Amino acid sequence: MNILILGGGGREHSLAWAVAQNPKCDRLIVAPGNAGIAKIADCVSLDIVDGGAVLKFVQSNAVDFVIIGPEAPLAAGVADVLRATGVLCFGPSQAAAQLEASKFFTKTICDAAGAPTAGYGHFTDIQSARDYVHKMGAPIVVKADGLAAGKGVIVAMSLQDALDALDDMFGGEFGTAGAEVVIEEFMEGEEASYFILCDGNDVLAIGTAQDHKRVGDGDTGPNTGGMGAYSPAAVLSDTIAEKAMTEIIKPTMAEMARRGTPYQGVLYAGLMIKDGVPRLMEYNARFGDPECQVLMMRLGAQALDLLLACAEERLAEVQCNWAEDHALTVVIAADGYPGAYAKGSVIGGLDALPSTSSAMCFHAGTAQSNAGVTAQGGRVLNVTARASTLAEARAQAYAMVDQIDWPEGFCRRDIGWRAL
Ligand code: AMP
Ligand code: GLY
Repeated sequence: MNILILGGGGREHSLAWAVAQNPKCDRLIVAPGNAGIAKIADCVSLDIVDGGAVLKFVQSNAVDFVIIGPEAPLAAGVADVLRATGVLCFGPSQAAAQLEASKFFTKTICDAAGAPTAGYGHFTDIQSARDYVHKMGAPIVVKADGLAAGKGVIVAMSLQDALDALDDMFGGEFGTAGAEVVIEEFMEGEEASYFILCDGNDVLAIGTAQDHKRVGDGDTGPNTGGMGAYSPAAVLSDTIAEKAMTEIIKPTMAEMARRGTPYQGVLYAGLMIKDGVPRLMEYNARFGDPECQVLMMRLGAQALDLLLACAEERLAEVQCNWAEDHALTVVIAADGYPGAYAKGSVIGGLDALPSTSSAMCFHAGTAQSNAGVTAQGGRVLNVTARASTLAEARAQAYAMVDQIDWPEGFCRRDIGWRAL
């Protein structure tokens, strides 16, 4: 079959890498892709948030299956446009993607489903928000309601930080995403991510992972999109995962279906775990980046069969076959990230890296130029390895990192530290 993947980050490189290994895949197209993806797929330029443009491309290129990577096309309703015309598509509808696009929406779903999560208030004016913060005290968490590229959450350790965050959000720092604010109870515990395929009726867990959100070693410095990940996440034991499935995931899916907006796609549940009890921190309507990279490295070619079963509402018929292995990915980012960074520096040493079923350097923000592969984004490379132990996967990933010649880049040296 002909398959189109929308997106151009490390998540989409790992999806393309897994899908391309499956014999069902005849032609693979990625829009827009990047320098690494271009080695295994045709990269095309396409406005991926324009459902009409995507549909036209699908029709004129005989595409059989579309996999949507990032949240922007989901929130823009690209899946709806495709499905309305009978195009097979992996990714939730615009209405279902509200689970990521609106924090308040998710809170109302949790209320209706009885899913454990942080207590909260929802505000559209700054004075009542300030009053609430004064009443509840710090630490407290202030969240812009809408999509804010991962930057709309302020964990305020002091009252002043919380009030400053409210000034920023109601002052328009996050545009319309901050016109509504959710203020949440601060939850203590350890974070982990749980990935579940949902076809509207059935669910299939496809793995756990732990991200590293802070830019610096030991989880210090500002938040980023994620500086590294590993899978499985030991903290999300089978017992806790089962609890999250029965108390959080399944009730959420049932409530979405009851409202006439069944969820179809991958549900990424960000959980906070304390004393063996999982609570929901957030949902995302897509794979995590870089969590996807470690999941794909563990799933390999079967990923395509699972995504297809999800899109065809056949999840009850399939199984996820795990090897007893561990994958770990290290993000290499441009100096300055998550603040301002330069583009265009040349990255050396990539050709000599291994490229196997258990060792891959996935590309994120890269492009090919005459001088070689150049950096074109904040997060640039995801060096990923798989082995029978986490320690071994980590050693292999860092050995690859040390072969890369890119003085303008940096990475954390402690990915996996909580589990090791
Ligand atoms: P989110 O974008 O919702 O994942 O939030 C970003 C980060 O803020 C999370 O990864 C957590 O570290 C932190 N966070 C979000 N909500 C809470 C909460 N209610 N309590 C404590 N930390 C939180
Ligand atoms: N790595 C966090 C995310 O994809 O949202």
